[in-house]
Amino acid sequence: MSYKINGKNFDAEPRPGQCLRTFARDLGWFGVKKGCDAGDCGACTVWLDGKPVHSCLTPAFRAEGREVTTLEGLACNGEMHPMQKAFLNAQAYQCGFCTAGMIMTTATFTEEDKKDLPFHLKGNFCRCTGYRAIEDAINGVCHVVEDLPGKSVGRNLGNPHGPAIVTGQAHYTGDIKMEGMLHLKVLRSPHAHARIVAIRRDKAAAVPGVHAIFTWEDVPRIPYGTGTHEDYRVEPDDTYILDNVVRYVGERVAAVVAESEGAAEEACRLLEVDYEVLPAVFDPEEAMSGKAPILHPKDAFTSRIENPDLNIVREIHGENGSAEQGFKEADEVYEETFETHRQQHAQLETHISITYLSADGRIHVRTSTQTPFPTKSKLGYLFSRPADDFHVYTERVGGGFGSKQETLGEELCVLATLKTGRPVKWEHTRTEEFIATSSRHAFKVRVKVGAKKDGTLTALQLRVLSNTGAHGNHAGDTLGHSINESLTLLRCANKKVDAYAVYTNLVPSGAFRGYGITQTCFAINSAMNELARKLKMDPVALLRKNVIIPGDTLLSIWGAPADVEIGSYGLDQCMDMVEKALASGRGTPKPEGDDWLEGKGMAISMLDCAPPLQRSEARVDLTAEGAYNVAVGATEFGNGTVTTLRQIAATILGCGVNRITIIQADTDKAPYDTGTFGSVGTTISGTAVRMTCEVLKSQILALAHRYTDAPIETLALGDGDICYGDKSLSLSDLFARATKDGQRVNATRKCAGTARTVSFNAQGFRIAVNRITGKIEILQSVHAADAGAVLNPMQCRGQIEGSLAQGIGWTLFERMTFNDKGELMGQTFRNSRIPSFADIPRSEVFFADTYDTIGPLGAKAMSESPINPIAPALANALTDATGLRFTSLPLSPDRIFAQLAELKK
Ligand code: FES
Repeated sequence: MSYKINGKNFDAEPRPGQCLRTFARDLGWFGVKKGCDAGDCGACTVWLDGKPVHSCLTPAFRAEGREVTTLEGLACNGEMHPMQKAFLNAQAYQCGFCTAGMIMTTATFTEEDKKDLPFHLKGNFCRCTGYRAIEDAINGVCHVVEDLPGKSVGRNLGNPHGPAIVTGQAHYTGDIKMEGMLHLKVLRSPHAHARIVAIRRDKAAAVPGVHAIFTWEDVPRIPYGTGTHEDYRVEPDDTYILDNVVRYVGERVAAVVAESEGAAEEACRLLEVDYEVLPAVFDPEEAMSGKAPILHPKDAFTSRIENPDLNIVREIHGENGSAEQGFKEADEVYEETFETHRQQHAQLETHISITYLSADGRIHVRTSTQTPFPTKSKLGYLFSRPADDFHVYTERVGGGFGSKQETLGEELCVLATLKTGRPVKWEHTRTEEFIATSSRHAFKVRVKVGAKKDGTLTALQLRVLSNTGAHGNHAGDTLGHSINESLTLLRCANKKVDAYAVYTNLVPSGAFRGYGITQTCFAINSAMNELARKLKMDPVALLRKNVIIPGDTLLSIWGAPADVEIGSYGLDQCMDMVEKALASGRGTPKPEGDDWLEGKGMAISMLDCAPPLQRSEARVDLTAEGAYNVAVGATEFGNGTVTTLRQIAATILGCGVNRITIIQADTDKAPYDTGTFGSVGTTISGTAVRMTCEVLKSQILALAHRYTDAPIETLALGDGDICYGDKSLSLSDLFARATKDGQRVNATRKCAGTARTVSFNAQGFRIAVNRITGKIEILQSVHAADAGAVLNPMQCRGQIEGSLAQGIGWTLFERMTFNDKGELMGQTFRNSRIPSFADIPRSEVFFADTYDTIGPLGAKAMSESPINPIAPALANALTDATGLRFTSLPLSPDRIFAQLAELKK
């Protein structure tokens, strides 16, 4: 059959049933991405005779004789298409995984199409940006500015990977061809709880191209937790690579390695498994009642499960002061139970790993992870080998949001490579992302809060129940985090918590942006709003009266933390800015008619700018060309570390960012890093880079002093040279002299991750609610962030907008609903209602004017925290509009309608 892709004619025979997406990728056109394979996300968009199509839904044979254009073919005579330039100028991407499809769609827009973007962008999802930057790109808005050597901090500098992203040259984990690559697929459990009695593999093994089949009998019988932390003891060892008991629908039963994905899938279907079905439990209250089936019975490995007989992975109890006494002293008490639901990360790039051996027998793991170094340690542990036998690295990662702080594929690929000696690839399907990777924990939070008539809090008490699912990855840490900053934010002499993370027979939860705070933040902010109503106080005035201020001891239920301080304080500014904006009259007017009610609400949050014990190390080398190589272990997955770390380095070293090359997330090439999660990219890795650059700068100036005899105080390190008086010494000359003297010009420093500062967020919404349909329209969205000195306002704003979109999605639309067998209903983007362009309003975003005394160059973390106040701000606005308190999420029309209807009875 004759094909033409990106102007190249060739003959090829697609496989029977092959779609255009895999056909193009097999030919090396990696600008065609896979996000869903269901026609929902548009990451695979290509042009067929100039018209955009979802290539995952287009049979390859239909492209015969037609002109196919992928992102790589969009440029003309070496000149980028105007839309490629527009995406670059507006920095309309973060991870960049959606960008190929976005550009291929938007590049066809007419001026008329641009007037109705909600309609014309309905086939393209972006999970990172919140769509504002994409809209700006389509409308030709330019945000990127020129660099100023030595002054790059505070400027909207573009991501150095930008040109590669918009031209399709940025390569993600799967964007590689390897000779002899095998493919791995997994058979998953149809039962929520069952013992595997037998697996017959003869028929599967007979499928042509099958190389290996693994069941629980073929894997190291070593228990572990899938979450990746430096300190593995924070996870219970409750998982095996493959086990003889399955504890949720979708859990791995067996793995097949074959020449093609199709052969591996076919073999999985032919495996015959006998199960002994066991009773299952899905509700955490029931699971801890003492009458439920036990998921992880006591054995030698359950020592880190707090109470296996009650399915309790972790429980936390603590009190500061006396809550009982505090409630006695209160004039008003409000008590209610709030419930939050699961949320899938829905990052566009699914989990994917490729493993291969080198001639020296080392095992190379090319993977989509946020934690290369802990993953390396974990692989060493699982295969009883020195960790240095493993080389773990990322190229470009297509989003994470916490989902890739797990080992969810590397270990099976390694096993398969060790068995076959061949490269092995395992790429999750979108369905597997939903049914078998982690999600935000569902919480049930009972809040009791008491106050004096003047609003002074006297007691704050929580009972927190977290549904961790079938395994305890991140169960304990999210529980601890959930009761830390949310409580610390409020001054109150008497605080008490009883918290439990409980096993159930559902897909395991895990790390997700917010990491537990999102759930308790909803409950506490909602309760404070109701308390204000009881006290007949303005809700914002009640918050102002009770929030912590500089000089306060930071207290949750434990003693004061040893290393968390208020390095800068902008919460007051944030609240002012949101209040003022909501009162400004800006935004959309309420729709006309009596059916629409209007309300506004605000919520606040605080975040420690790193988890405890987070570490990062940086190494900076001066090169022969007078440039710098910065090596740091932090991962770039759309969080913008590559951009901000470059800006920090360039500012300290007095040069332009184009002199800085960043090497990241590679256990062979970069120094140690505990992983990029928990808001550490800017604060911890940034501090490591700052410290290292400062040392290198001193070293360069000392060398320059030696080579020029100029007094050291007269030397100024600049963009490629060192100036003194009217003379200068180039950095390349300095490098050459130093090399001749046998001296290397480089530095290494570690950031031990302490002290830690805190950041603040405030969110306000003005909404309209239709009393007949229950639909919420967001009329105005305002966010104010205390991020310290903002290193890159464009990028920081993008992180906030992405957080907002994810928060709005969680609050209003997204669902993960299970049937009574524990099966997830809706395993696609479409059915779980991941927000599209039409769902997300433009937000006003403000920054507090602060400079942090702890963070690098005055900066604080801001990728994670903005999501936390979104749900309670919407819920408070809904209460303002309707007079009703909605205590559970999502705030979807059917649920609002039902409650409003109840009121009318
Ligand atoms: Fe759009 Fe990451 S930039 S999905």
